[in-house]
Amino acid sequence: MKLAVFVSGRGSNLRAIYEHPAHGSSYRVEAVISDKAECGAFEIARSYSTPTYVCCEKREDGTRSFAPASAALKEREIDVVALAGFLKLVPPEILGAYRDRVFNVHPALLPSFGGAGMYGMRVHRAVFESGAKISGATIHLADEEYDRGPIVAQACVDIADADSPEEIARRVLEVEHRLYPETLARVAENNLSISDGRATLKP
Ligand code: GAR
Repeated sequence: MKLAVFVSGRGSNLRAIYEHPAHGSSYRVEAVISDKAECGAFEIARSYSTPTYVCCEKREDGTRSFAPASAALKEREIDVVALAGFLKLVPPEILGAYRDRVFNVHPALLPSFGGAGMYGMRVHRAVFESGAKISGATIHLADEEYDRGPIVAQACVDIADADSPEEIARRVLEVEHRLYPETLARVAENNLSISDGRATLKP
């Protein structure tokens, strides 16, 4: 399965996707695409000799064209898109071309603690302030809204004794790094089925 990973920041999930034994057997990262001209994730991509692309360009009216991303997906013959800390909404033309093949990782147990503006440390601060005793990671199919779309996989982490949002972030990130590559490997092995808007990963 040829994978494109969309990123905006440091790229620790991208690294986990590379480092999983499934990379090179079940899936391979063929493109790393960012809304930033440069970011930590690009450095990781270059260390694996993966081509990097800037996904979008500003039009005169201030909106963004994702034509460069669409061209990169075509050029690299991408099968599946994995959003890994990508902070923009994926536009309808890419969601349409990759129906049920655009995945996202979110650092909380959706449908709680998601939506516009809920990313990175903001999520962990909200979880900490809520007094929740568990958090976790969610892999879901992306749609036109932030953090919506059928849930594919989740893993919990005990945060009852976590004394800061930073500690929650550390524990959740560990879970993300395991769950995302494992889920992508199972997708590559054709273990995902979708019916009536529900996604099921076969055991
Ligand atoms: C990850 O924790 C990811 O779940 C989160 O951003 C971080 C990116 O880290 N994504 C969101 O909050 C999206 N709503 P990384 O660049 O080190 O993979």
